[in-house]
Amino acid sequence: MQFGHFDDAAREYRITTPRTPLPWINYLGSENFFTLISNTAGGYSFYRDARLRRITRYRYNASPLDSDGFHFYVKDGESVWNIAWQPTQTELDAYECRHGLGYTVFESALGGVSAKQEMFVPNGENCLLTRITLKNTSDAAKQLKLFPYVEFCLWDANDDSTNFQRNYSIGEVEVMDGGRVIYHKTEYRERRDHYAVFWANRPVDGFDTARDSFIGVYGAPAKPEAVLGSGCKGSVAHGWQPVAAQELSFDLAPGQEQDVIFGLGYIENPVEEKWEAPGVINKARAVAMMDRYPDDAAFDAALADLAAHWDDLLSNYTVDVADEKLGRMVNIWNQYQCMVTFNMSRSASYYESGMGRGMGFRDSCQDLFGFVHMIPDRARERLLDIAATQFPDGSAYHQYQPLTKKGNLGVGSGFNDDPLWLIAGVDAYLRETGDYDVLNEMVAFDSDMSLAQPLFEHLRRSFHYTVDHLGPHDLPLIGRADWNDCLNLNCFSEHPGESFQTTGPSEGPVAESVFIAGMFVKYGPAYSEICRRLGKDDEAAFADEAVEKMTKAVLTSGWDGEWFLRAYDAASQPIGSHVCEEGQIFIEPQGMCVMAGIGAKTGEAEKALKSVKERLDTKYGIVLLQPAYTKYYLNLGEISSYPPGYKENAGIFCHNNPWVVCAETVLGHGDRAFEIYKKTCPAFIEEISEIHRTEPYVYSQMVAGIDAPTFGEGKNSWLTGTAAWTFLTVSQAILGITPDYDGIAVDPCIPSSLSGYTVTRRYRGAEYHITVDNAAGVQKGIASVTIDGEPADVKRCGLFETGCIIPAQPAGSVVNVKVVMG
Ligand code: BGC
Ligand code: NOJ
Repeated sequence: MQFGHFDDAAREYRITTPRTPLPWINYLGSENFFTLISNTAGGYSFYRDARLRRITRYRYNASPLDSDGFHFYVKDGESVWNIAWQPTQTELDAYECRHGLGYTVFESALGGVSAKQEMFVPNGENCLLTRITLKNTSDAAKQLKLFPYVEFCLWDANDDSTNFQRNYSIGEVEVMDGGRVIYHKTEYRERRDHYAVFWANRPVDGFDTARDSFIGVYGAPAKPEAVLGSGCKGSVAHGWQPVAAQELSFDLAPGQEQDVIFGLGYIENPVEEKWEAPGVINKARAVAMMDRYPDDAAFDAALADLAAHWDDLLSNYTVDVADEKLGRMVNIWNQYQCMVTFNMSRSASYYESGMGRGMGFRDSCQDLFGFVHMIPDRARERLLDIAATQFPDGSAYHQYQPLTKKGNLGVGSGFNDDPLWLIAGVDAYLRETGDYDVLNEMVAFDSDMSLAQPLFEHLRRSFHYTVDHLGPHDLPLIGRADWNDCLNLNCFSEHPGESFQTTGPSEGPVAESVFIAGMFVKYGPAYSEICRRLGKDDEAAFADEAVEKMTKAVLTSGWDGEWFLRAYDAASQPIGSHVCEEGQIFIEPQGMCVMAGIGAKTGEAEKALKSVKERLDTKYGIVLLQPAYTKYYLNLGEISSYPPGYKENAGIFCHNNPWVVCAETVLGHGDRAFEIYKKTCPAFIEEISEIHRTEPYVYSQMVAGIDAPTFGEGKNSWLTGTAAWTFLTVSQAILGITPDYDGIAVDPCIPSSLSGYTVTRRYRGAEYHITVDNAAGVQKGIASVTIDGEPADVKRCGLFETGCIIPAQPAGSVVNVKVVMG
């Protein structure tokens, strides 16, 4: 069942009922001011940090779900409704929500009134704009009222939801111009130098700033006293719950329409300019902001700028292909999700409260795979930030804080895959840009500039950290965990509430990870290539040898007979082996080791993927492990804390499904690769939205696995490494267009039924139109290549030399490449 549909021309998802299985959200803003907005206008705004600068309030566990947000009540005689349906939930004659790139539009109608609510954050601006248009579609004149309503958060979202003994006494506002402009200035009197402002671009008839007045002490947003009664009461909040509510009249002749623009802004003042009079906040910056959006022309111009911004970003990689679902994911939604994931990391979604963990070291390195082609400069900055948190011995804090950019020890360090992701991230950046100078940038260790070394030295220490931390089978020690945060082999937690990662020894000299070994073999060659390019041939040779040894160790001690083992635990017992009672086979090492090419020429890789198909595959994707753990295992940790089929315990973890897709393409299995790709791909599962439940335009972290009672149900949408990995997979492994060190590697691995497509790729300032012709109906392999019509004798690439490298063209040039498969 569907609850809407894609509109590819407009690059929108159009939701046609407010009753979606879960709130389906969008993100407005991509620099500093952000708003999460659902299809019923639930959500909240924040400035940069969703915990410390929360502008409006949101209750995650609310019932009714998602009832805090940006509410516009229309009052038409006795009838009261919301343009986006919540919170009154008045049945509407028409409803539609269109989520687009950085904007959301609601259009609804009731009883001869149609309404439009358009919302976005202008480029470079710290405010949310909302334009409300009301139209009288009836034959009689109408006197309508419109009431906008938002509830302020007292800045620190954590305190806001816990410290009521203080909070109820600190709320302060200022009201100007009869309520047309409402300032929220809680704590501005002391150490804050920022405030929020809510305004309308035309006079209002009334206002409220105390929730008790507008909603009623025992009232509800679904039936606000002021709206149902005789209007706003002009309340000024002193403590309790400050809000911004206004009342506006619309006298509309038949057929007439009028609009009004509302803004919600965030203003920071230099300390010496905080006040315009004792106790009166300096409003100059707020006034300047309001003056930038006086009318429709300004609103429309800012909206056009936003569209141009997205046009530019998304035109770095586009595909023209007959399969429309594939096209819409590649050209629009997958890249959009990658940008949102870059902006938010794992902080604010409808599943991440904005108060939790900081930025993940590994998460941020991987996110880069999905956006480096759009914003390479920001990727560079991000890499330097991440590297600066690394410890001098090459290991890493698992997380760091976006505001301070310092590592935090919330879950400790010693997640032993982390350092290798830095190599992977830098490698992706170098392939995209060719900017080897970045390797000479002086970068702190542990945020201490006195320890700074060139970025290259960070990579060297990352690589050597693995080499120097091997266990009894010459496989990498796992530490607190590897990619799978929940596989805690050195942690023996027995008491509720303890951290699964940091209780007990956490790290140890025995437990080893085959997954990290696979990563080492996959990204080690990138390190050696970088060394070679810097003229460090001895180090390159050392790296090659280390990779060779690791490959041997995997094939000797990391191979279970039919698939790759997952790990050895602290007692050196195999995990993910046929000898285990539960958890006999895991997805991660199959994907990573085959991607790395381990066993590709000797048969193990084929066997491993066959085992994945036989043992882990389901109609909704590949589950993380089988059989699921049915009880809690002290020696395994958090993974076995989840009920079977959920999360890391045999859920369909969307992040590592693409690893298996990539692995299949290494072996040339284009049909199978595409089949797996489609199973978790939002556009391909839109028709089962009632089962999947999360947004049909973005990936979720997890889909409940075959062991779960809710098999197929998605959870934790938007902020997941899945976005970057699936984009890498579809753009590079399937469509086969991969930035390489000196050009673009072309090596498609596609379903034999796909007869061809054209990718347009901007790369280092040149534009490539790469047409792939698969009239031959093969899955992999290139018969001939022409560049601008001339037969090209291009260098071959890929494990089996199936691909070729199109040399980098001069910046500014446009080149047409034709690749004939066969
Ligand atoms: C989740 C993991 C996540 C970790 C982050 C765990 O509870 O299951 O998916 O990586 O928390 O700290
Ligand atoms: C989500 C975390 O953000 C990521 O770092 C981790 O790899 C996966 N969960 C798997 O545990």
